[in-house]
Amino acid sequence: MTSTFTVHAAAGYERLMGRWSQKLAPLFIGFAGVADGEKILDVGCGIGSLTFALAGAADLAEICAVDYSPVFVEETIRRNKDPRIKVRQADACDLPFEGARFDRAMALLVLHFVPESGKAVAEMRRVVRPGGVVAAAVWDHLGGMPGMRMMVDTVAALSESGRQLRRRFCFQPMMQPGEMQRSFVEQGLVNVTQTQLMIRMDYQNFDDYWAPIAAGEGPLGKYVATLDTAERARTDAAVRDAYEAGRPDGPRSFANDAWACRGIVP
Ligand SMILES: C[S@@+](CC[C@H](N)C(=O)[O-])C[C@H]1O[C@@H](n2cnc3c(N)ncnc32)[C@H](O)[C@@H]1O
Repeated sequence: MTSTFTVHAAAGYERLMGRWSQKLAPLFIGFAGVADGEKILDVGCGIGSLTFALAGAADLAEICAVDYSPVFVEETIRRNKDPRIKVRQADACDLPFEGARFDRAMALLVLHFVPESGKAVAEMRRVVRPGGVVAAAVWDHLGGMPGMRMMVDTVAALSESGRQLRRRFCFQPMMQPGEMQRSFVEQGLVNVTQTQLMIRMDYQNFDDYWAPIAAGEGPLGKYVATLDTAERARTDAAVRDAYEAGRPDGPRSFANDAWACRGIVP
C-alpha cells in the first residue's frame, strides 16, 4: 500500500483540513524557501493549498503538483487558472519525472500518510537538482494537535477499537521527534534542519469541528463511519462534551504544531 489517506470528497477535505493547510502553507514556504524563476514540485497536493500559495509567493517558472488520489487531482485541475501549474496523478514513491528536474520538491502534510515514507523522501531527492531543496511538513498528532487528540482520547475511553484508532493516529510515519530529520539524513540530504510550524484551528461551534469527521472525511471520519447507531450516538455525545468542556457550545480555538524539515541535495 502506498497511501493510507482516505479520500471521501474534495469539499469535505476542504472543511476538514484544506482550510487549515491554506493557513500553514505560507509558513511552510517561508521555511522551505522559494525564488523567482524556479521549478517546484508539490508532492501530495490535495486540493492545492500549497500549489496555489506557491503560485502567489514568487514568479516561478513552473509548478508541478502530483497526488495519489484522482479525486484531488481532478479538483486541483478544476480550481487551477494558472498556466504555470501542471497537475497529474502520481505516487510519491515512484515520481514520474527525470532526475534533477526541479529546484525544490515540497510535501505538505503528506509523508505521514505514506507507509514507505523514506522512499518518498528518496524520490523527492532524486528529482531535485544538486544544490536544490527538499522540504516536508507533517502534523505532530501525538503531542501537537490537542483538537484531534481530544477526539481520539475520547473514543479510546469508549472502546477497544477507539484505542486502536488512537494508537494508529498518534504513531503515523515521520511524526516522532527527530524522525523526519533522521530520514532526510539517511536519504543523503545535507544541511538538514528541522523546525516546528504552528497555526491555530478556529471553529465556530461543535458542528463546525465535527461535521467533516461525522461525514466520514479523513482517517478519523473513516473510523466514525464504522460505528453502529448506538456507538455513533455515544461517540457524538462524548466528543461534543469534550469540545464544549463545560461551557455552552460556541467558538473554540486549538493550537496545531507541525514538524518541518528541509535539506539540500548534494
Ligand atoms: C492531508 S492531505 C494534504 C494535502 C495538501 N498537501 C494540503 O496540505 O492540503 C494528504 C495528501 O497526501 C496524498 N498522498 C498520500 N499518499 C500519497 C502518495 N503515496 N503519493 C502521492 N500523494 C499521496 C493524499 O492523497 C492527500 O491528498
